[in-house]
Amino acid sequence: MVGQRAQHRPFGLPLLIHLCLLHLGASGKLPATPRPPMEEAASVQGVRGGSVELACGSGPAPLVVLWSFTPLGSVVPRPVAVTDGASTKVEPGASALGIVSLQNSSLLLRELRESARGHFLCQALHVFGDQLHTTYSYLTLAVLVPVSKPKVRLSDPSPVEGDSVVVTCAVREGTEPVTFAWQHQAPQGLGEVLVGVKEPLLWLDPVNRTHLGWYVCSAYNVVNGLSSDGVFLDVVYGPDKPVITVEPLGLTAEGFWVSEKEEVTLSCLAASNPPSHYVWLCDDTQVHTGPTYVISSASRAHTGLYTCLARNSYLDTRTQTSVQLTIYYPPVGQPSCAVLPSSAAVTLLCTWPGGLPTAQLQWEGPHGTGPTAPSNATWTSSVTRLSNGSVFTCTGKHPALALPALCRATLWEPPHSPTCRITATVGDQLILLSCAWPGGMPPAMLSWVDEQGQPLGGNSSSLAIHMLQAQEDLAGREFTCQGSHLLRIPDVQCRLQLEPPQLTVAKTQVLVLEGGAAWLECALQGGMPPAQLLWLGPQGQQVERSTSEFVLHLEGAQLRLQIQGADPARHSGTYQCVARNAVGNSSQSVVLEVLSEGCVYPAPPNVTISRLTYRRHWREVQLQWAVQGPGNLTGFLVQQRASVSGPGAGAWETAASDIEPDSRDWQLGGLDPGVLYAFRILALNHHTTGHPSEVKTPVDPPFSIYPAVLGAAGTGMVVATVASLLVFQYAARHPQVFPRIETPTTTPSSDPAPESTDVPVNVTITVTATP
Ligand SMILES: *[C@@H]1O[C@H](CO)[C@@H](O)[C@H](O)[C@H]1NC(C)=O
Ligand SMILES: *[C@@H]1O[C@H](CO)[C@@H](O)[C@H](O)[C@H]1NC(C)=O
Ligand SMILES: *[C@@H]1O[C@H](CO)[C@@H](O)[C@H](O)[C@H]1NC(C)=O
Ligand SMILES: *[C@@H]1O[C@H](CO)[C@@H](O)[C@H](O)[C@H]1NC(C)=O
Ligand SMILES: *[C@@H]1O[C@H](CO)[C@@H](O)[C@H](O)[C@H]1NC(C)=O
Ligand SMILES: *[C@@H]1O[C@H](CO)[C@@H](O)[C@H](O)[C@H]1NC(C)=O
Ligand SMILES: *[C@@H]1O[C@H](CO)[C@@H](O)[C@H](O)[C@H]1NC(C)=O
Ligand SMILES: *[C@@H]1O[C@H](CO)[C@@H](O)[C@H](O)[C@H]1NC(C)=O
Repeated sequence: MVGQRAQHRPFGLPLLIHLCLLHLGASGKLPATPRPPMEEAASVQGVRGGSVELACGSGPAPLVVLWSFTPLGSVVPRPVAVTDGASTKVEPGASALGIVSLQNSSLLLRELRESARGHFLCQALHVFGDQLHTTYSYLTLAVLVPVSKPKVRLSDPSPVEGDSVVVTCAVREGTEPVTFAWQHQAPQGLGEVLVGVKEPLLWLDPVNRTHLGWYVCSAYNVVNGLSSDGVFLDVVYGPDKPVITVEPLGLTAEGFWVSEKEEVTLSCLAASNPPSHYVWLCDDTQVHTGPTYVISSASRAHTGLYTCLARNSYLDTRTQTSVQLTIYYPPVGQPSCAVLPSSAAVTLLCTWPGGLPTAQLQWEGPHGTGPTAPSNATWTSSVTRLSNGSVFTCTGKHPALALPALCRATLWEPPHSPTCRITATVGDQLILLSCAWPGGMPPAMLSWVDEQGQPLGGNSSSLAIHMLQAQEDLAGREFTCQGSHLLRIPDVQCRLQLEPPQLTVAKTQVLVLEGGAAWLECALQGGMPPAQLLWLGPQGQQVERSTSEFVLHLEGAQLRLQIQGADPARHSGTYQCVARNAVGNSSQSVVLEVLSEGCVYPAPPNVTISRLTYRRHWREVQLQWAVQGPGNLTGFLVQQRASVSGPGAGAWETAASDIEPDSRDWQLGGLDPGVLYAFRILALNHHTTGHPSEVKTPVDPPFSIYPAVLGAAGTGMVVATVASLLVFQYAARHPQVFPRIETPTTTPSSDPAPESTDVPVNVTITVTATP
């Protein structure tokens, strides 16, 4: 590196300096002596502000060293420093190069300055023996500059998406080559991303939202590297077309659905910087502002087209999206199941109308399922192997219902079999054949057919009615009602035959005493259709309604005719009981004979009551009588009535009849203790009654105190206290009756009392005390 060729000529420093300076000063105009061959200049690098030491060759220490400097671009060398080993001289102008000093023969440059760039030449004077040699060392010093902190600049800090943006990284100084690196950090802290650009210019053309964020530029050269502060690029964009989401999510062909009464959340999102402002419209009416619209309880009225409007207030740009929202609601109530009447296959009908959308219905039976149908589902299923009580279920499904709704149809066979009945309309113009077979699911099918099996009208369920015009020639005709049910094999039937009525009479001959009551009885006996009974009198006249003479009693199928106050002239004769129906009539005769009093037998003898006493707490009386005079008789008749003073006494009722002709004593029971009865007795000779006896009322039997009373009574005197006792005893029971007391002298017994003691005693009592 250092020039090795040197001439050794000893001479002093001043001379040398002179020589050197002369030489230097003559640089460019060096003496014509050939310039010593120069070594290839060595390159040395130093950093500005740093230090660098330039060595002047090697070998033994020279006598004199002279450093000179030729700046870049110049050809004129300038002395820098010189030393002869003992003393050192630094050219003052050399401070432009930094702080210059010599260390032995090396030139030390500290706080290096850029102006030190250039060529340094070191000339050294050596002594070899007695010769002076000069050596030359050439050095080229490069002063390197570190890069300064880069600065980033944006051509537009808030560009709109699509614009062109230039990001510039500027370095004030720094030794070339300077290289650059870019880093981008998105605002949401996604980490820094190295941009693959090594230029100081970053072209974002067109700029988009992904470019938004912090930008940092780094610059490097051989000396150092520095990064800039971050610069924010705020890309303005949007709003994009909004995206609407619906919660809970249900998709239809047109949009979204939710169930009635549910809470619905409509959310809208439209990417935008600055963020969007949102407005919700329902069918063009504003319903909400803000990104989220909540319907707390959806109703059918909420169905509609929902539009979300998004607006970027910075750009005043708008976008919108619409969705159709449909509120689903199930049909009301439950599906309803029905079985259509048919006798072959079973036809099931399930309906559940309404709802949005309509419900899906499906039948399921014991042997499989039917097809699915909306709102109403009809299924015809074969009935083989079905038992009584087979259940078919219709399932209704609807998106708004968590659980399906059901209805069931149970097939059952009506019990028993059809029943046939005939009724006739008023006046018997029409005959109704009715056939009933109630119950069953489906109901049974019924139809009427005639003798030839020809159908009379169509089929009907549970009840079939056929109407006929009443005609005489219907008698004897037969009609059949056929009943069929899909669970009953074979078919069942009932039959009717139209017949005139039949009747019977209780007695064909009736005898009645003159003035008595006779009963003629007639009863229906089968025959169809239902008949009407009536009585024709002896003159052929119809007894239409009850009168004082004729009383009609209709009891069920029996019609009784009561003839009162029988009169031989007017009531004797042949009566006819007639039965009529719409098909025909029939009749039977009854002969009534009214026997006049005494006309057949002599009158029986007169009768008198000898004794009439109470027994058993006034619920019974004992009656004894005597027959007066001769006369033939066949028995006795006792009659009774409530005893009332004055007119208005009740009618006589026969209390006992068929009393043997030998009998003189009778007990009558069943009396009301609260009623005072009057009694009489009649003798009978066959159907002839005798004169009634006198009328008597019963008395109490005697008891211990009676003899004293009787004593007084016998004299016609009355002991008031005893009389009061009797009166009260009687009056308590018969307050309305004035007493007339008979007092038997013997104790009561079943034996008839002797005739002699049976004399009635009349006692008249005046009552002063109020009972
Ligand atoms: C300078 O030279 C002297 C003698 O030649 C030597 O001892 C000393 O180490 C040298 N100094 C440097 C810094 O080389
Ligand atoms: C944004 O620009 C970058 C590069 O220019 C490109 O790769 C990217 O696809 C763009 N993004 C959008 C959303 O346009
Ligand atoms: C059931 O559906 C049929 C057609 O499939 C229709 O004619 C009928 O009216 C519907 N019935 C009801 C009750 O909706
Ligand atoms: C079928 O069942 C129902 C009840 O389940 C019953 O009332 C009916 O009598 C039954 N029919 C026959 C024919 O057993
Ligand atoms: C009535 O129903 C029976 C059994 O289903 C059938 O055979 C007959 O033809 C029907 N009659 C009429 C008149 O519809
Ligand atoms: C009874 O029927 C016959 C014919 O059969 C008729 O002449 C007569 O008038 C009918 N009698 C009554 C009371 O209907
Ligand atoms: C029977 O009594 C009636 C009146 O009560 C009387 O007219 C008739 O003469 C009496 N007969 C006899 C035989 O006493
Ligand atoms: C009473 O009647 C019977 C038979 O009816 C007869 O034998 C008898 O002679 C009659 N007696 C008198 C008294 O009439």
